[in-house]
Amino acid sequence: MSATASIQDDVETVLVTRQDLESAIERIAAELTGDVGDGNPILVGVLIGAYVFMADLTRALDFPLEVDFINASSYGNCTQPQQLEIITDVTCDVTDRHVVLVDDIADSGQTLKALVRMLQERGAASVRTCCLLDKPARRTCDFEADYVGVTIPDAFVVGYGLDYAGNHRNLPFVGILRPELYQPSK
Ligand code: IMP
Ligand code: MG
Repeated sequence: MSATASIQDDVETVLVTRQDLESAIERIAAELTGDVGDGNPILVGVLIGAYVFMADLTRALDFPLEVDFINASSYGNCTQPQQLEIITDVTCDVTDRHVVLVDDIADSGQTLKALVRMLQERGAASVRTCCLLDKPARRTCDFEADYVGVTIPDAFVVGYGLDYAGNHRNLPFVGILRPELYQPSK
């Protein structure tokens, strides 16, 4: 058998280190504790990208909360209202509950904007949004997350839950892949 390939060799630049991620999570955890710590909130992770962030964020919180997940994507644009495709819905009833949507990254902002509206229409008492990463340069709608870990430049990033074509979610940091991996040689 050949030597096991390291996915870390595919990374050109580390953009957000493990230490940066830990500090951002600690800060967000303190903010959430102040804002919803006594409200028994439901944290809803947006699959698949949020799974690593959810695991670390929830373990940094020391108050009663519930965890749920939703798998959804949007296909809206700037002129049409966001269309939301729910692939797997939450299992909980959000009526009169405080909900915190947790996602890996706010890019166009379309998915989270549409999810906020959907949860409000279902009767949630409040809906907050929490993104590990924010790419404001890519926004196509008026969306701002209530909690942001790290603001990054306009680059496609992988790791810590984020993927390129399904891979690299298991990198322990956030980085930019070597360009040749996006443009396979002919
Ligand atoms: P939106 O454009 O803000 O609706 O983001 C939709 C989803 O696209 C995010 O939740 C991510 O899963 C994915 N995405 C956006 N930017 C990146 C990136 O740089 N790397 C990996 N996934 C991304
Ligand atoms: Mg996502």
